[in-house]
Amino acid sequence: MSDKKWTLLLATLVIAFMYLLIQFMISTYENQALIQHLSEHETDLGSKPHVMLISQELDNPYWRLIEQGAKDAANQLGMALEYVGPLRINTDEQTTLLEKAIAAKVDAIIVQGVHNIIYKRLIDKAVDQGIAVITVDADSADSKRYSYVGTDNIESGRKLGELVVEADKKSPRSGNTNIGIMIGSNLAENQMLRLEGFRSVVSQHRNLRIVDVRVSNISRIEAAQKASEMLYMHPEIDMIVGMSALDAVGILQAVKNSDRDNIRIFGFDDLEETKQAIARGEIEATIVQNPYRMGYDAVTLIHDALEGIQPPPVHLMDIGVLAKDGNGWSDGR
Ligand code: BGC
Repeated sequence: MSDKKWTLLLATLVIAFMYLLIQFMISTYENQALIQHLSEHETDLGSKPHVMLISQELDNPYWRLIEQGAKDAANQLGMALEYVGPLRINTDEQTTLLEKAIAAKVDAIIVQGVHNIIYKRLIDKAVDQGIAVITVDADSADSKRYSYVGTDNIESGRKLGELVVEADKKSPRSGNTNIGIMIGSNLAENQMLRLEGFRSVVSQHRNLRIVDVRVSNISRIEAAQKASEMLYMHPEIDMIVGMSALDAVGILQAVKNSDRDNIRIFGFDDLEETKQAIARGEIEATIVQNPYRMGYDAVTLIHDALEGIQPPPVHLMDIGVLAKDGNGWSDGR
């Protein structure tokens, strides 16, 4: 082999060696950075109190607002928040998630109260094991939970009743009003209390009559189906009220699909679609809760509890009314 060929071969070998060396250095650097990142993340999570928020339904827009408030508070207070929930409303799954949170030995649990003895016992078990538990949105008042954060549900049901009474008085057709009611669930304490509050007001007016109560399973589609059934079974219905966040828009869909254009609709919560329907005059009014604040305050009270400050047994949020005619008000007025 000539000198020239040797030189060429040597140069190729040197270049290949340099290439491999550079590759080796890059991958070592990347690995080190990854290891550092992971261990930083681990210490980060490890040192932060772990709070599990268990919702009634993972992707429900109302629960996403609670999650947002909880996350903001957790970030500000240096806590690690984990948000979980059944894909569709399912009490058994909610119960399993509560069991898992206890088994994972989290520091705190924020959970929706469910009207069920097993659930109550699990909350008690968590507290007995030193886990701080706060109920949010719906209470489990006879459990050992530290605190309930949410709306005064009896009161909010009464307010809905008062709205209906007032609206009926102003109506030219006032006199004999037949009401259909949609509740989100018959296992959630908040729905039962809202119904009780509503009935307590309406029952004092002889011209107002409740003709049907159905369950939407907090689904807009089911609310639409059940409202259609109501309209079919009770042609005398004049008004339908919804007691969970997606009910009024579901009811509206059913009314639009029917040949009844004179049904008056009242609802709960001010999710975007409900607000738009109120602005168009299709839904008359809605009771406004504050889910973001529920999440925020629940985490703040958990933070206090972990620092040894006992939270109040009940921490209520203001409610308000949103109505197109500007007749809105809020408890904070
Ligand atoms: C209720 C929640 C429920 C939500 C469903 C709200 O009005 O307070 O319990 O999960 O509606 O859309």
